Amino acid sequence: MKAVIFDLDGVICFTDKYHYLAWKKMADNIGVYFDETINNRLRGVSRMASLEIILERANRKYSQEEKEELAKYKNDYYVTLLANMSENDLSDEVRETLIALRNRGYKLAIGSSSKNTKTILKQIGLGCFFDAISDGTNITNSKPDPEVFLKAAEYLNEKPADCLVVEDALAGIEAAYRGGFKSAGLGEAREHQEVTYKLDSFKDLLNVL
Ligand code: BG6
Ligand code: MG
Repeated sequence: MKAVIFDLDGVICFTDKYHYLAWKKMADNIGVYFDETINNRLRGVSRMASLEIILERANRKYSQEEKEELAKYKNDYYVTLLANMSENDLSDEVRETLIALRNRGYKLAIGSSSKNTKTILKQIGLGCFFDAISDGTNITNSKPDPEVFLKAAEYLNEKPADCLVVEDALAGIEAAYRGGFKSAGLGEAREHQEVTYKLDSFKDLLNVL
């Protein structure tokens, strides 16, 4: 293994709670039922695809223009929540593990569906840390399509077979598998049939690499 590609939300930092609050506010606003269980289905899924999942419970159809407005409403609120994030939102465990991997000579990249990736990395003090960033701004197909990880490998100048993908979402492990990457799963991602390593914690990466 020459490189490690990390998902962002739910792996490097815990923005899931902010995504949930922002989608909840939007769903309440249009009177559509939304809860934490539905929120779990949004992990790793792009903004517009997440909105489609939430609208499964709506009692009317929404036009493309309306959907774009709803996604914007959610994102505007989400971005105000992100503004409160700081270096305190990066755990010692994640920081120390990243530094240990860097010292062992691995190239390190981000592979996230989020279009807010660079803002979040800056907020938590990792704006200049990674060797490459592949995110929602450079892809057309979101996870479980492997595009975001294939781009990360390309930016790193490495072959997929030489990169390990670290994920917390089932869709992310599926994307890694389809792209020819080995994967390490945290949380529900451990349950994917094709996951290579089931991690007990983030620092457990130091035992599998
Ligand atoms: C992923 C999250 O990382 O990014 C999803 O797990 C989210 O929940 C997706 O929908 C897109 O994020 P954003 O910031 O572009 O709306
Ligand atoms: Mg994630």
